[in-house]
Amino acid sequence: MKIFLDSANLAELREAVSWGAIDGVTTNPSLVAKEGKEFFPLLKEICETVDGPVSMETVSRDAEGMVAEGVEFSKLHPNIIVKCPLTKEGLKATRQLSQRKIRVNVTLCFSASQALLAAKAGAFFVSPFVGRLDDISQDGMALIADIKTIYTNYGFTTQILVASVRHPLHVVAAARLGADIATMPFSVLEALVKHPLTDSGLERFLKDWEKLPASAKSTKPPASLAARPAASRRP
Ligand code: E4P
Repeated sequence: MKIFLDSANLAELREAVSWGAIDGVTTNPSLVAKEGKEFFPLLKEICETVDGPVSMETVSRDAEGMVAEGVEFSKLHPNIIVKCPLTKEGLKATRQLSQRKIRVNVTLCFSASQALLAAKAGAFFVSPFVGRLDDISQDGMALIADIKTIYTNYGFTTQILVASVRHPLHVVAAARLGADIATMPFSVLEALVKHPLTDSGLERFLKDWEKLPASAKSTKPPASLAARPAASRRP
């Protein structure tokens, strides 16, 4: 499963890239507004920071406006994916943009019937929001299972991008169900790394290492070993 960062914050994106952890980016108008920066230069910088799909959301309410925005977005960088909402106008825009070979992420998906229509309209990604469903006592991950079954039944190629991810269990459940991508805030990405046994295990190893006499614990090989020819090394 691919991991995307759901963020427009360049510092977070750079840090996640340095971990080798992310395959792409999703943003939305709320995340962009949080940065308080000019939209297009920010968009370009995000594309130059992460080598993978970058979803940017249209803000028009009608299909004509979404298509016009989408066309402009797509000219900026080959990795741009245009986000359109799962409304009738959004579906119209998805159809038109995908006919022009512009990839669309259909967002704000909350039901399997919506996901079916997104795939039929030609969506490249569909974004079901699991956390927001959980928030209103509906089972977000059950929606992912339904979409996966429907897309598999009919051979739709639209990729399932699990969105509104709130914690590591969402990520693991998405991977178990065979989702294509999970997008998450930086805090969730950090939580994926953390395990208390890793921290305490490392503490113990390093404490034990301190018990070695100073003369024995150089981590640089002595000249005699460093100079060994390649053939005498183990494969
Ligand atoms: C996805 O593309 C959305 O930007 C995002 O996952 C929404 O998450 P939220 O429900 O935590 O705002």
